[in-house]
Amino acid sequence: MGTVGRGNGSADGARRREGSSREGPSEGRQAWRPAEAPTATPTAGEDADTDAAAGPTPWTSPEQLPPDREFEGDLRPSRLADFVGQDRVVSNLRVALQATQSRGEALDHLLLAGPPGLGKTSLARILAAELDADLHATTGPALERPRDLVGILTQLKAGDVLFVDEIHRVPSAVEEYLYSAMEDYAIEFTLGEGPSARVVPLRLERFTLVGATTREGLLSAPFRARFGLVERLVPYPDADLVRILDRAARLLGLQLEPAAAELLAARSRGTPRVAGRYLRRARDLAAVAGRSTVDGALAAEAMARLGVDPLGLDDVDRRILGYLGRNPNVPVGLKTLAAAIGESEDTIEEVFEPHLLRMGLLHRTARGRLVTPEGCRAVGLDPAGATGSGESSF
Ligand SMILES: Nc1ncnc2c1ncn2[C@@H]1O[C@H](COP(=O)(O)OP(=O)(O)OP(=O)(O)O)[C@@H](O)[C@H]1O
Ligand SMILES: [Mg+2]
Repeated sequence: MGTVGRGNGSADGARRREGSSREGPSEGRQAWRPAEAPTATPTAGEDADTDAAAGPTPWTSPEQLPPDREFEGDLRPSRLADFVGQDRVVSNLRVALQATQSRGEALDHLLLAGPPGLGKTSLARILAAELDADLHATTGPALERPRDLVGILTQLKAGDVLFVDEIHRVPSAVEEYLYSAMEDYAIEFTLGEGPSARVVPLRLERFTLVGATTREGLLSAPFRARFGLVERLVPYPDADLVRILDRAARLLGLQLEPAAAELLAARSRGTPRVAGRYLRRARDLAAVAGRSTVDGALAAEAMARLGVDPLGLDDVDRRILGYLGRNPNVPVGLKTLAAAIGESEDTIEEVFEPHLLRMGLLHRTARGRLVTPEGCRAVGLDPAGATGSGESSF
C-alpha cells in the first residue's frame, strides 16, 4: 500500500510490492515471453519451455503483463479531459465531481467495474487528481487482516481517495470493517484477545473509497450497496481506440498514419491496454527498420509477427474455434474445451471468450459452447460440414 500524492499513485505498484497476483487467469499468464516477436504464429509445441498448461502468453490478453507496466505509466491519461471514450461514465463522474466540489464534501464512494485494461486504475487516479486529493492505493488481497485496513484508514485525510484494486478479493473479515468506515466514517477496532480484549472506537476523516473490480459479481450485495456510484466500463469502439492510439503515438514521438491506427485499433479487442501493446510492437519494428513512421504495411507486419489476425484473434482463440468447429452443431462443455486446448477454464472464460462472444464467433448455451458459422469461417472451416483441420487460414 502506498500513499502517493496528488493522484499520482500506483495501485499496480502496490500490487507488485505486495507480491500479489490476480487469481485465475493472470496467474498462469505471468510467464512472460521475451519481446522478440515470433516470426510465425507459435504453436503449442514451440512453447514447451513455458508453462505448458498455460499455453503461450497471448499478446491479446487484456491483463497487465510485466512489460506493460512502465509504458502504461507514461501513457496514462492524467485528467478527465484526456480520458478517451466511456462517455456515459465520464459524464456521470463529471457531475459527481462538480456536485461534490460545490458542496465541499467528499465524493461518494465509487465502484468501477469492467474487464481488465479498460481504464479503471487510470480513472481512479484521475479522480484523485481532479479532486486535488491524495490517492492511497492498495489491493484487496493486500488487506489480509483488519489491522492492515485500520493502518490505512487512520492515515486518510479529509477528501483523500482510497483506491482498492481487485476489491472483490478483500477478505470478508476486513469487508465488515469497511462497511462502517464507508457508512459512518468510524470503526470499532478490537485490540488484544480473550478477556483482556478492548474495543477501541476510531473516528475517520471523510474519505472516498474507489474500488475497482473485474468481477463485480463476486462482490457481496451489502458491500456493493455501500457504493453511492457504480460505473461499468465497456470495451471501446474502434474509433475511440484510434484516438487512444493517436494520443499514445504523439506522446511517444511516433508518426502513426491513419491506416495504421485503424488497423491496430480493429485488432485490439476493444481494449486500450492491448492497443498500447500493439503500438509498442509496431514502434519496435519501425525502429529496427530505421523508420520514424508507422504506416499500414508496417502495422500489418507487426500484427502478422504476433500472429494476430484481422479479427484480433490469436493462436489460442483459433484453437478454441478450431476445436469447436470440428463438430459445429455439438455444444462443448467448458471443462472439455479447457482440457482440449490446454488452458484453464477461468482463462477461457475471462480472457478469450469475451472477445469471441462480442465478435459473434461463439455462443454460450446451457449445454456448452457452440461455434457460429462466422466462427467456423474465421478459422477456415466450412460451417456446414466442418471436416477441415480447424487450422487457421491466417
Ligand atoms: N480511456 C482511455 N484513454 C486513454 N488511455 C487509456 C484509456 N483507458 C485505458 N487507457 C490506457 O490503457 C492502459 C490500461 O488502463 P488501466 O491500467 O487503467 O486499466 P484497468 O482497467 O485498471 O486494468 P486492470 O483491470 O488490469 O487493472 C493505461 O495505461 C492507459 O494508458
Ligand atoms: Mg487496474
